[in-house]
Amino acid sequence: MKTVQSKVQPLVWKSSYLLILDQRLLPHEKKYLKLTDYKQVIKAIKDMALRGAPLIGIAASYGMVLAAIQRSKQNIQELILELKSVGEEFKQSRPTAVNLKWAVDLILNDINQINDAKKIIDAITKRAIWIHEDDSIRCQKIGKHGAKVIKQINVGTHRDLSLLTICNTGALATGGIGTAIGVILTAHKNYPGIKVFVAETRPRQQGAKLTTFELIENGIECILITDATCGYLMHKGEIDLVVVGADRVAANGDTANKIGTYQLAVLAKENNIPFYIAAPLSTFDRLCKSGADIPIEERQPEEITNINDKPICTSGVKVRNPAFDITPAKYISGIITEKGILRGNYKEEINKILNQAVVV
Ligand code: MRU
Repeated sequence: MKTVQSKVQPLVWKSSYLLILDQRLLPHEKKYLKLTDYKQVIKAIKDMALRGAPLIGIAASYGMVLAAIQRSKQNIQELILELKSVGEEFKQSRPTAVNLKWAVDLILNDINQINDAKKIIDAITKRAIWIHEDDSIRCQKIGKHGAKVIKQINVGTHRDLSLLTICNTGALATGGIGTAIGVILTAHKNYPGIKVFVAETRPRQQGAKLTTFELIENGIECILITDATCGYLMHKGEIDLVVVGADRVAANGDTANKIGTYQLAVLAKENNIPFYIAAPLSTFDRLCKSGADIPIEERQPEEITNINDKPICTSGVKVRNPAFDITPAKYISGIITEKGILRGNYKEEINKILNQAVVV
């Protein structure tokens, strides 16, 4: 199967600082921010200058390198304690995406027995680069497994295959070609004749601003729709498959992803449309038995009450702004991972696959 390369570089490590593409300015401005302090990395994650579960895990890893460099004059015990506390700050910066915890825990585990500051910096740097490169490899594999699912869908020759996705799951959200977008790019490269409906993704518009940008850059036909249009098109028979990413997959397959994903899954089931999650195993959390255990981030009201920084509502209106929702496993046709596609009894399948997964 032909492979795809990502065209966008959302993050570049420069040995003593981190460059991140400020995604809040896309698609009209491509500006890199230079981050020299781990606190700037935390702020960039919280303010969503960069976002996407795998990518914030990668950013946190490089942030841990910066923290170690900044604190390297302390004695070893103090340094390790400080790094544990910085790790907690990273984990809390966006509470739903488990990749933050996954990356920070790998790093803390690596340095636990090291008693020299320089060696700690070297070990964290090595791990951060590994986490970054490893995510790229995972995305390639997810793309290939997922493309096979797409190939099997036959809509005859009278029209292109129509996919639907939400949020942004591509190169801007990962260390490689992306998860759900990785699947779409790989399928498109191998079996042309694919078009993608992109849900705009209120309130931050990741679909409208980022996903359409990535798909157009890769020469894939895409059609932007409002989130509320998805059900209408599904009912009219215009959607053949839904594929989305994940911020955390619980041990029973329940999945947290961008707010609005749950309703897509229910509507897909109602309309007999396959609904797939694409996610690396670094997004699975066996400590969460079900979706009920996944913390859901609630963000600032202004994301909803303001458009382009201008208030659009009566001031003082009450707002709820959960950034993610939970899709129960029963609505999911399959979870596309780098190790293959999980289906059926998710609890058993996830347990089996996580027991096999080896971290180097
Ligand atoms: O709030 P965001 O933009 O970080 O949300 C991102 C998503 O919900 C993605 O679908 C998810 O992180 C998977 S990215 C490969």
